[in-house]
Amino acid sequence: MNEQQPSIIPLAEPWLPPACAEAVRRQVETTFVGPGSASQNFAVRLAEACEVAAAVPVSSGTVALSIAAQVLGLEPGDEVVVPAYGVISVINAFAVIGLKPRLAEIDASTGCIDPKRLSDAMTANTKAVVYVDFCGSIGPDLDEVAGICAARGVPLIEDAAWALGRGHPGRRGGSFGSIGTVSFSVPKILTTGQGGAVLAHDDAQRDAAIAAADQGDINWRRTNLNNSIGSNLRLSDLAAALGNAGLDQLEERWERKRRAYSILSKHLGERLFRAADGDAAMQHIIFVERPDDVVAQLKSQGILAARQYRPMYHHPPYRGLRDRDFAASEFWFDHSVYLPFGVGLTEEAAERIAMAIDRLNCRFMSARR
Ligand SMILES: Cc1ncc(COP(=O)(O)O)c(C=O)c1O
Repeated sequence: MNEQQPSIIPLAEPWLPPACAEAVRRQVETTFVGPGSASQNFAVRLAEACEVAAAVPVSSGTVALSIAAQVLGLEPGDEVVVPAYGVISVINAFAVIGLKPRLAEIDASTGCIDPKRLSDAMTANTKAVVYVDFCGSIGPDLDEVAGICAARGVPLIEDAAWALGRGHPGRRGGSFGSIGTVSFSVPKILTTGQGGAVLAHDDAQRDAAIAAADQGDINWRRTNLNNSIGSNLRLSDLAAALGNAGLDQLEERWERKRRAYSILSKHLGERLFRAADGDAAMQHIIFVERPDDVVAQLKSQGILAARQYRPMYHHPPYRGLRDRDFAASEFWFDHSVYLPFGVGLTEEAAERIAMAIDRLNCRFMSARR
């Protein structure tokens, strides 16, 4: 007799209820599929959701980070400090425009830059610090890092890729830095397929970001004359239609995340990574002695966990950046396992993952201080 195979739980399944398809269908019917009024409407609503003066939708979160640095006036050769561990986008976004990255060690218990280690990475030439709201966390470390940057007169870029709409009135992800960014890639709380936005604090930042995303000149479509060099990095109305539907559902999206997280948290307790702000961690992470082994054990049960990210200096182009000891970043690389975490993750799937973790043959580790 054939035993029924368990269904596959993907690592990062998006949540796309019928309203998303309906929004895209309606947009197609308008025949306006390029950048236009849906994208402008999305920008206004996004700024409201993030409690910033303006938002400029662009083609990805990586592009949003590059533009944020340009808006702050950073020029090729300038130094920018990024977290030593994490997604490659956070370093590539700056290196690709000729900036010189330096690495700040993370705090093993938060996954965010460790404020106590930040000054190790800063020099007299540091022109910006990039703080990633790791797993969406906008905890006390963010205030500390913002304070250090303010005291040294160095602008802070807050990468709120995972923290869109997180927090409460007066404290929203993406609003803490001198400038902020978000991403709308598939695993994020709201997805447009690909996309991102720059979160600006005033009209000058907004206009500079619009120009950077549209051929270097905010007026060229009217004047037929381009005063600066730029590229086309805008978001289409087709994508913005999905974004507007996502904003309608933003609370529901966070509720789904929190329900799945709380099921895992209830079962796994201290074994599950906790975000420093006390809210649900956007990614579900455990620490084990042998991560490859655990990924394989889970895979055999249809659960697609993964090892994700590395210390930046593991990547050949950034090898020269290992100028200190990065024990916390190494710990994360050596021991973290990312369990399925997409907004599409159902409560039943979260239960199944929790049960599978209980059955694992492995030794758990702690990232706590
Ligand atoms: C923290 C962080 N910043 C930036 C990005 C880049 O976003 P995108 O994939 O939209 O370019 C990502 C993508 O996963 C991310 O996790």
